[in-house]
Amino acid sequence: MRSALITGATRGIGREVARQLAVRGIRVLVGCRERAAGDRVVQELAAAGGDTQALVLDVTSADSVATAVRELGQRAVEVDVLINNAGVCPSGNALDADERAWQEAIEVNLLGAVRISRALVPGMVQRGYGRVVNVTSSWGLFSEGMGGPAPYAVSKAALDAYTCTLARSVRGDVRVNAVDPGWVKTDMGGAAAPRNVERGAETIVWLATIGADGPHGGVFRDKRKLAW
Ligand SMILES: NC(=O)c1ccc[n+]([C@@H]2O[C@H](COP(=O)([O-])OP(=O)(O)OC[C@H]3O[C@@H](n4cnc5c(N)ncnc54)[C@H](OP(=O)(O)O)[C@@H]3O)[C@@H](O)[C@H]2O)c1
Repeated sequence: MRSALITGATRGIGREVARQLAVRGIRVLVGCRERAAGDRVVQELAAAGGDTQALVLDVTSADSVATAVRELGQRAVEVDVLINNAGVCPSGNALDADERAWQEAIEVNLLGAVRISRALVPGMVQRGYGRVVNVTSSWGLFSEGMGGPAPYAVSKAALDAYTCTLARSVRGDVRVNAVDPGWVKTDMGGAAAPRNVERGAETIVWLATIGADGPHGGVFRDKRKLAW
């Protein structure tokens, strides 16, 4: 049985990705900052027959990542799928966003993915199998104009750059890609967003489960490759 860790799986797109992977028979580690929130998702998924476990993980904290890896023990080396989904969207443009907004965006959206990838991807390379999906945004794409709040756009562009460099650093059947889920109705996306979480999760789940002939080192939306 394959296993997957989704960061920020307590709500929104991450929770739906967890559900879709569990339905496919994948053992899911529900990344959560509060165990109670993770346990609620575990209960939901168990009711649907999923094999899941909550894993307390604040991606901004190296200690939290180390504690989570210790809690997993040998299973940390056996994580097959990593979804770097946890994200925040602090506001402000390039001149008025304050330093806290910049730090938060970079800490969560970029360094969060770097911390977990450094902890888990070497195990994938060692075992010769892995799927990493970094959840990015059209607002981080130069090709789409880098819209949205500046700290968010810059952090997602940096996550895209990290996706390229991580893809170059692995070997064997390890596939690393980024996904823009589109504008999705979640706490972050807001009520006016046209997409539901099912649609937002679809391409992430597709890349999490692709075969050895699947894409590597690209950014996708609706299963189509985009320009960075
Ligand atoms: N919604 C959209 O329209 C849209 C568009 C493009 C890209 N995205 C991207 O899609 C991803 C998911 O977004 P969403 O819309 O589902 O957002 P959301 O509903 O606001 O959920 C964000 C998730 O990230 C978690 N999180 C935040 N900071 C964290 C940290 N330090 N450590 C661990 N987890 C943390 C939250 O956990 P708590 O519950 O503990 O706060 C929550 O589970 C993000 O990367 C976002 O940038 C979303």
